[in-house]
Amino acid sequence: MDDLLSRIVGIAKAAGRMMITEKTVDIGNKGTKENYVTSTDLKIQKFLRKELTAALPDSKFMGEEEDDPDVPDTYSADDLIWIVDPIDGTANYAHGIPMSVTAVGLVKGGEPILGVVYQPYLDEVYYAEKGRGAFCNGAPIRVSDHPKERGIVCTAWSCYNKVRAPLCFDVSQSLYRTCEDIRRIGTAAYELCLLSKGAADLYFEANLAPWDYTASACILKEAGGLIESQYGSIRTDRQCMIVAANNAENLEYLKSVVHGTVAKHPEAGITF
Ligand code: IPD
Ligand code: CA
Repeated sequence: MDDLLSRIVGIAKAAGRMMITEKTVDIGNKGTKENYVTSTDLKIQKFLRKELTAALPDSKFMGEEEDDPDVPDTYSADDLIWIVDPIDGTANYAHGIPMSVTAVGLVKGGEPILGVVYQPYLDEVYYAEKGRGAFCNGAPIRVSDHPKERGIVCTAWSCYNKVRAPLCFDVSQSLYRTCEDIRRIGTAAYELCLLSKGAADLYFEANLAPWDYTASACILKEAGGLIESQYGSIRTDRQCMIVAANNAENLEYLKSVVHGTVAKHPEAGITF
C-alpha cells in the first residue's frame, strides 16, 4: 500500500469507529422521515474534511451532510475531489442495526482513483487505488464468476424518492424470478463491496448520490467488476441510476431488465 492510501485507510477507520464509540447520538431527519441525519454523521464528516484536505492540501471536499453541498456540474481535469459519506446506512445506524460504513472516495477529472470503505462493526476495510488492485483487510479481492442464475442481487426501492419505488419493485420481481435471491442491506457502499469480493453478483438502485458509490466504484472496478449509470459511465457530479455486476454478461442482462422496466414507468422520470 502506498503512503497516501495507507493514510486514508487510517483516517477512514478512525472515522468509522466513531459510530461505535459515540455515547450520545442525536437523531434528526432531512425533510422526510426515512432520510436520517445524526450527530455522528456530522461529527465524522467534520473530522474527514479536516483530515482529508490536510492529506492532500490542494484537494476539494464534497460530503453528504453539507449545509450547502458543492456539487459541481463539471470537473476540470485537474480537480482532486474527496467524495465522502460519513455514514452510509444512516437508517440502520439510527435504528441500531449494525450495518453501516464510512466511505471515502477520491476523484480526478470526475473519475474515482482511490476508494476506502470501512465497516466498523465487522472491522472490515475495503480499499483500492486505480490500477493497483482491490483489497479487504490486506487480502486481494475479486468478483465472483457466478452466472445470473446463481446470482445474489443487492438492491433497494428508492426510499428517498418513492415515486420510483414501483419501477424498483418491478425490476426486483423480474430479477427474483431469474436470479438466486435478493438482499436489501441498507448501505449501497457496502453492498458494492460485497459485489467486489464475490459475495454478491448484481446490483441495482434507481437513485444514488455520488457519495453512496464513488469509493466503492473504484474498489469494484479494481476487483474486476463493472458499474454504469443511465448516462453510460458513472457520474460523480450528480444523482444516478446505478447498475453493477460481476461480469459483462450479467451486466447486459441487468441492463435489459432495467431498460425494459423503465419504459413501463414514465412516472420515474428516467431517460437514457
Ligand atoms: C443510503 C443507503 C441505502 C440506499 C440509499 C442511500 P444513506 O445512504 O446507501 O442503502 O438505498 O439510496 O441513499 O442515506 O444511508 O447515507
Ligand atoms: Ca449514503
